[in-house]
Amino acid sequence: SNAPAGYPVSPRAAQFDPFEDAYQQDPPEYVKWSREEEPVFFSPKLGYWVVTRYEDIKQIFRDNITFSPSIALEKITPTGPEANAVLESYNYGMSRTLVNEDEPAHMPRRRLLMEPFTVDALKHHEPMVRQLTRQYVDQFVNDGKADLVEQMLWEVPLTVALHFLGVPEEDMDTLRKYSIAHTVNTWGRPKPEEQVAVAHAVGNFWQLAGQILEKMRKNPEQPGWMQYGIRMQQTNPEVVTDSYLHSMMMAGIVAAHETTANASANAIKLLLSHPHVWQEICEDPSLIPNAVEECLRHNGSVAAWRRLATRDVQIGGVDIAAGSKLLIVSSSANHDERHFADADLLDIRRENASDQLTFGYGSHQCMGKNLARMEMQIFLEELTLRLPHLRLSEQTFTYVPNTSFRGPEHLWVHWDPSENPERHNP
Ligand code: HEM
Repeated sequence: SNAPAGYPVSPRAAQFDPFEDAYQQDPPEYVKWSREEEPVFFSPKLGYWVVTRYEDIKQIFRDNITFSPSIALEKITPTGPEANAVLESYNYGMSRTLVNEDEPAHMPRRRLLMEPFTVDALKHHEPMVRQLTRQYVDQFVNDGKADLVEQMLWEVPLTVALHFLGVPEEDMDTLRKYSIAHTVNTWGRPKPEEQVAVAHAVGNFWQLAGQILEKMRKNPEQPGWMQYGIRMQQTNPEVVTDSYLHSMMMAGIVAAHETTANASANAIKLLLSHPHVWQEICEDPSLIPNAVEECLRHNGSVAAWRRLATRDVQIGGVDIAAGSKLLIVSSSANHDERHFADADLLDIRRENASDQLTFGYGSHQCMGKNLARMEMQIFLEELTLRLPHLRLSEQTFTYVPNTSFRGPEHLWVHWDPSENPERHNP
């Protein structure tokens, strides 16, 4: 993409490339220069305006009319004709859900579908989350080493997501297989030869989501957020549309799964790389809720989000034309010294940690935030209780190259199983 006419692109703006490993490893550090010197810049490689300061980003989140979320799930790398033909062959029809829906359609739908996310409604899920977590820890607790992503943090949030949505047990395994393809399809840059394989997986995922939805329609009284939506459709068919339900059946899994799996892996990696902080939460678990919040701020799982300018507007004094696409680097906002004192410091007692923008902000703010927090707190409670002597192993962290969803693919840890507290106090 070319820069807007007459707009000078600085050398660093020209180099900015969110598919580079340096961005994946540490997004706020990668754009530190921007936060300090050029907080709103045009990226020719991406064809997006990039925004990196806390106040600018919060202002964008606050105004979802000027800054439409409609492109939030648009493919960041358009696919070629071959992959498009594959998607068409599956009648792929992913459409608006909530996160990318404009007003006036969005707010009535959000309100109608909110009840299952309230703190009270979520309490019913807590025993399921804790039992799953304990079961997964049981499987490796005596091994002395584990890849926490592979052996726990990927699977538990996926299973929780499937339960929350109301997916029948017998369909869980097939759905698991397909869900990852959606991320690469949306936020990644698959090579041409990968695109076709990804398109088949996405097409299969779409069809399967449709079949499961049909099954749910036969038993709409079952618990589950999708069944709740099906019941709401009966009285409000123009608000909860068929297209919405089918799209959410697919998008909901990704929204609830990878975000939480990555956030948990990022949090545990961060805490274990500060052993004295890990020690503190082992000794005083009442510190865990704010530690989770601070980890979401310091090392969240959504690095950046997107908006579309619907009119000519200024951001941080820079003129942005109607139709411009914005990459708002929320992970950078979370390290903005203007809002967070000593922003790069991990401070689990930080008073304004919950001002973090990892869940977005305003009318589209993550509906699942309290479910995600509950899961992360339970993971930390169980690990600090059963494996307080956990240590981070020497390793190189790898990430799936994409602009938005961020977490290590593996997280190796080790400990001495003969020191497990439960061996001494069974
Ligand atoms: C929206 C992040 C977990 C469901 C969002 C948005 C972000 C986000 C950045 C867009 C916010 C905006 O535009 O202002 C995260 C992170 C999670 C997480 C970091 C985990 C740590 C979950 C879970 C669910 C969920 C567990 C459960 C289903 C949703 C829904 C929306 C949303 C339904 C759309 C809300 C709307 O547009 O009105 N999330 N999410 N998320 N999230 Fe999450």
